[in-house]
Amino acid sequence: MPPKVFVTRALPGTALAQLAAATSLRCWPGPLPITAAQLRTELRDAEGLLCLLTDCIDEPLLAAAPALRVVSSCSVGVDHVEVAALTRRRIPLGHTPGVLVEATADLTFALLLAAARRITEAERFVRENQWTPSRRWEPELLLGKDLHGATLGLIGLGAIGQAVARRAQGFGLRVIGWTPSGRSVPGVTAASFEKVLAQSDFISLHLALSAQTTRLINAAALAQMRGDAILINTARGGLVDEAALLAALRTKQLGAAALDVFEQEPLAADHPLLALPNVVIAPHIGSATLGTRSRMAQLAVDNLLAGLQGRPMPHCANPEVYS
Ligand code: GLV
Repeated sequence: MPPKVFVTRALPGTALAQLAAATSLRCWPGPLPITAAQLRTELRDAEGLLCLLTDCIDEPLLAAAPALRVVSSCSVGVDHVEVAALTRRRIPLGHTPGVLVEATADLTFALLLAAARRITEAERFVRENQWTPSRRWEPELLLGKDLHGATLGLIGLGAIGQAVARRAQGFGLRVIGWTPSGRSVPGVTAASFEKVLAQSDFISLHLALSAQTTRLINAAALAQMRGDAILINTARGGLVDEAALLAALRTKQLGAAALDVFEQEPLAADHPLLALPNVVIAPHIGSATLGTRSRMAQLAVDNLLAGLQGRPMPHCANPEVYS
């Protein structure tokens, strides 16, 4: 009997067809994400689960899934999973690092440039018919920030941070960086956390969300940043104290922010960040290219099949289950 597998959302590419050929697969058909209650019902007899970062995989869910022996998330981040609860049950957890590095670094740079050159404000200016003959070309219209010669501060120097550093070098930025492990990487001048905050024109976050990194960028950290600095976050919203960020942006203690991730997603329609002109906003699309999402789906399927067949996963977030 092929193992029963549940997939919480259709994925781009051909990976799910491959999974369907090797398992008894059910894929959530709804146009909306599956709810926690629906997921509990679907997992009653499933041996494998392929999930997304929008699915909360916690102790109560696992208690309702007695046959579950493999979980594979189509994401690099696993902060939506109670990893210790899986490890206690010796369930391997797959994730998808590596394949989304370049796409996420591209989006980081797109947001950095958009905030530096005020692209979203400029587009609104034109679409809202403010580009009138009397304002044809103004010496002080929509003045932004130069990249060349400026300092980019990276908080987190993993694969994505390093890919952002490579792009920054091409733009003539000086790159400094801090990582909790203290390690240094080529092309990035290592600096203390405080120095990165105080010296950077652009500060970009590239850390996983954990108990140690939650709200690392709080009111005290924001107060150390330059008044014209731009904060970019394509990692996780929970790294930033959003209320403190709002206050810093409102009082011009911080120049601007460019954000792909938020404490609560989706962002509420009346969220105060949406009212600020000095904020560029995207809906968590760091890895959203067809090629990258297809590679993520393939890696998620490879992880799931390896787990179901008793082989080590290509990328396992809790490798201690194998020892
Ligand atoms: C995206 O945020 C991911 O973790 O893959």
